[in-house]
Amino acid sequence: MTTKPETAIVLGTGLARLASEIEVDLAINYADIPNFPISTVEGHSGKLLIGRLGNKDVIAMQGRFHYYEGYSMKEVTFPIRVMYELGIKNLFVSNAAGGMNPSFKVGDLMIITDHINMMPEHPLRGKNVPPGPRFPSMDSAYNKAFIAQAIEIATEKGIPVKQGVYLATQGPTFETPAEYRAFRVLGGDAVGMSTVPEVIVAVHCGIKVFGMSVITDIGFGEIIGEVSHEEVQKAADAVQPKMAEIFRALLEKI
Ligand code: HPA
Repeated sequence: MTTKPETAIVLGTGLARLASEIEVDLAINYADIPNFPISTVEGHSGKLLIGRLGNKDVIAMQGRFHYYEGYSMKEVTFPIRVMYELGIKNLFVSNAAGGMNPSFKVGDLMIITDHINMMPEHPLRGKNVPPGPRFPSMDSAYNKAFIAQAIEIATEKGIPVKQGVYLATQGPTFETPAEYRAFRVLGGDAVGMSTVPEVIVAVHCGIKVFGMSVITDIGFGEIIGEVSHEEVQKAADAVQPKMAEIFRALLEKI
């Protein structure tokens, strides 16, 4: 039985199946955890899993909370604070995202190297809650050693990975063609509706972060079309074993 996981994993849209790679000792429904919000989106089953991945103890969030669902940023990031209190030192985050870098294609994996926060509410707004400072640095929000190790792992295993900047919007609309173009000009490589609030709170707590996006649709050039949630889930589903492999190998190294 697991005693003390040091790494937490947040499984994003279409990536819940990665949970099947976890040897689960204990699964707790979010509904049974005091003050936990309850997930409403299709494809997010809403369970906290405690077990092992790559022979390391982990806690995994099968399903996350999105701002577009109507939660406040405090609610969206509450699970991260719970993880911190449980002694988590590392956070692996995953998401589905739209590709804006012209070298990206559907099904690509992108290691998140940095982010642009375009969400309308900040998760640290309000009274500063320790342990972090009032004005936390976001200079190395995505741990550089984790990025380097993940690239090494991907190279060794022959898994192609991209690297890039994740831009977060509140959603729930996908982007207009003009918005995709604008976000690309701003410096985003991929765009999505999650992750950044959790990362900010984790960094504020001193938790080291590693993040990966699955590119589920493309927002540039001639190929911008209508994106659907089903399409996003299908593309994420297809590539999740590769992401799981990288997560597992990275866990073994840390
Ligand atoms: N835009 C925003 N969020 C997304 C996208 C997108 O194109 N794809 C998956 N999540």
